[in-house]
Amino acid sequence: MSQVLVASNRGPVSFSLSEDGALAMRRGGGGLVSGLAGIAAARGEASPDVLWVCASLGEADRTAARRSPDGRLDLAGYETGGAAVRMLDIPAGTFHRAYNAVANSTLWFVHHLLYDTPRSPHFDAHARRDWQSYEAYNAAFADALARDAAPGAKAAIQDYHLSLAPRMLRERRPDLRIVHFSHTPWAPPDYFRLLPDDIGTQILLGILGADHAGFLTERWASAFLDCCELLPGARVDRVSRTVSCGGHVTRVGVHGLGVDGTALRQRAAEQDVVERARALREQVGDRQLIVRVDRTELSKNIVRGLAAYRELLANHPEWRGRVVHLAFAYPSRYDLREYREYTEAVERTAKQITDEFGTADWDPLIVQVNDDYPRSLAAYGLADVLLVNPIRDGMNLVAKEGPVLSERGCALVLSREAGAAAELSEDALTINPYDVSQTAEALHRALLMPRAERAERCARLAAAATALPPRRWFADQLAALD
Ligand code: G6P
Repeated sequence: MSQVLVASNRGPVSFSLSEDGALAMRRGGGGLVSGLAGIAAARGEASPDVLWVCASLGEADRTAARRSPDGRLDLAGYETGGAAVRMLDIPAGTFHRAYNAVANSTLWFVHHLLYDTPRSPHFDAHARRDWQSYEAYNAAFADALARDAAPGAKAAIQDYHLSLAPRMLRERRPDLRIVHFSHTPWAPPDYFRLLPDDIGTQILLGILGADHAGFLTERWASAFLDCCELLPGARVDRVSRTVSCGGHVTRVGVHGLGVDGTALRQRAAEQDVVERARALREQVGDRQLIVRVDRTELSKNIVRGLAAYRELLANHPEWRGRVVHLAFAYPSRYDLREYREYTEAVERTAKQITDEFGTADWDPLIVQVNDDYPRSLAAYGLADVLLVNPIRDGMNLVAKEGPVLSERGCALVLSREAGAAAELSEDALTINPYDVSQTAEALHRALLMPRAERAERCARLAAAATALPPRRWFADQLAALD
């Protein structure tokens, strides 16, 4: 098999500095890393030779990258789970502007429809400087990929952080075959046009530098084509799903991402998960459990989810004392004020619910804002109801992991705006994520659902969730380049 380069902002591991100055390592979070980690680690005849190029996300990562030969963490003896990883030492200021100001505060907001438009976005001279850093950051990836790639290799460039890199790489290495994959939704044209015209154009042209542009669902692929139709000089063919621009043709494809059921079940059988499950069960007794697991992320809609739980307890007092909501929201993107404020809003709303309904022997809500992966897996196992209510989401792997690990069969309350709804909506209770009352009623129906029906639906959800394991998802993207 030929060489495959993977490029993404976040790599499989990142580092922090402990108090004694030593580097501590942890697994990266989020759907992208979950999808790719197993693939990059697999070696052997059936697996391509993968090199994963990622950015240093902070000072500790930069230290680790500098201590490794040319940023190759695996060659320096760091435990990368078997993957060959090159971590790029991008200057802190450039990284901060590219990642926080452009990728996360602008592109993420555009694709997830997160702006409060009377106030933002606001593209001024600062935004231009931020954009230049985004260009420099993308160029750093393109340079590294161009240098590391064997002749004719395939490059799989991931996500909105790297939308310019495909074109930049093609300019440097026309011999390579390039795929770009978006893990997010794609904005509809009227919303995409919030971006300054030249920036919007560069983003589209950047992705169109790839031979293949992949999306998680039909809906996001078709929104991308809608945006390309507005691009001067581009020709969109809806039947062959191609975009021709400047003599180059990009095929657009849909590649759903699911979970590796076997690996997930194995991980969940480990001792740390079993212990946490026991502790959680002791804490909540035999009450029914409504579980959610997210990054503390604006698009995940955690505050409205809590408001729906509040409305459930207010409108259906029969559940008081008989149900507990476990909401695990691990910290995310704390450099951004919006995320810090959002976390405060989550904590405030949670406290209001506890103050209003809590009694001496019943805690209605357990909210935890810290990262504990084994505890999340334990919660999936115990869930009676899983709440996944994002405003908008590329796929949402929680909606897939939960049913796979659920022991008694959980009911899934799922936002119709999550990509996963395209595959799971028949057996989930689907909701409009903005409709708090509808969400509350869906929770009520889910709690009332007969055990047998819950278990049957859950089994079908688990089957759908594991139908497209990461290995297949990735292989499909690469095959689209042949
Ligand atoms: C989403 C994005 C990923 C990102 C992840 C975690 O899933 O599509 O690219 O890695 O969120 O976000 P973070 O900013 O912590 O990497």
